[in-house]
Amino acid sequence: MKTETRSDLPVFERIPRHVAVIMDGNGRWAKSRKLPRLEGHKRGAKAVEETVKAAAECQVEFLTLYAFSVENWTRPSSEIKGLMSLLVQTLKQYEKVLNKNNIRLQAIGRLMDLPETVHRQLQKTITSTAHNTGLTLILALSYSGRVELVEAARTLAEKVRQGDLKTSQINEKAISDHLYTGGLPDPDLLIRTSGEMRLSNFLLWQISYTELYLTQVLWPDFGREEFFNALRSYNQRQRRFGTV
Ligand code: IPE
Ligand code: IPE
Ligand code: MG
Repeated sequence: MKTETRSDLPVFERIPRHVAVIMDGNGRWAKSRKLPRLEGHKRGAKAVEETVKAAAECQVEFLTLYAFSVENWTRPSSEIKGLMSLLVQTLKQYEKVLNKNNIRLQAIGRLMDLPETVHRQLQKTITSTAHNTGLTLILALSYSGRVELVEAARTLAEKVRQGDLKTSQINEKAISDHLYTGGLPDPDLLIRTSGEMRLSNFLLWQISYTELYLTQVLWPDFGREEFFNALRSYNQRQRRFGTV
């Protein structure tokens, strides 16, 4: 099975292996049009489809999308309900798109905190795309970078207590391996839309040397061309990792 590519695909010298995205600005997009916030989220779901397809076309290996944070549970219950049912609907609809484009779905975060309907549909889509060998799309749902670190610390402490691990074996690799992203390369590029200049508790450990791309574009207006703009910017960066 192959990923569909379009004839207008730009050539990039370097393709990041792992791109992470803080998809922000759905509410402001809706507000500026005097629409309910949920309309912004619906348009945001379209932007997800375009971005995922563009990443697959460019042969990015991993794309991690921040879809819902642990802190987002503090939003009004009507918005949370709307977001959760949109999630189920979108996962159902995208199953075909993902399979057609050889994309495998995975999820990170406190997935057990999601409503049963979301959890069930998520597992269904993950299973139905598990055989795909192209892009791995990772949805961060009920995700918190700090909670992820706390959970890793607890697992490591328990292993020491059981005698399966020595304290001296707790090193950077051991911590990385015990995060939800264990086994994945750290993101090479982090995109945040809507002009905010903060991390909002996303992948705190993993982005220590990630290149940042911040754009004013609101998430529902993001898509194929915007994704390519981010890759163009990435291609102009000189990554030094502390050396000269
Ligand atoms: C991002 O858009 C989507 C989620 C956090 C679920 P927002 O809903 O945060 O939109 P703004 O930031 O209010 O514009
Ligand atoms: C970050 O956006 C979380 C997601 C994109 C899912 P927020 O809109 O929740 O972040 P803050 O509150 O502006 O920092
Ligand atoms: Mg926001």
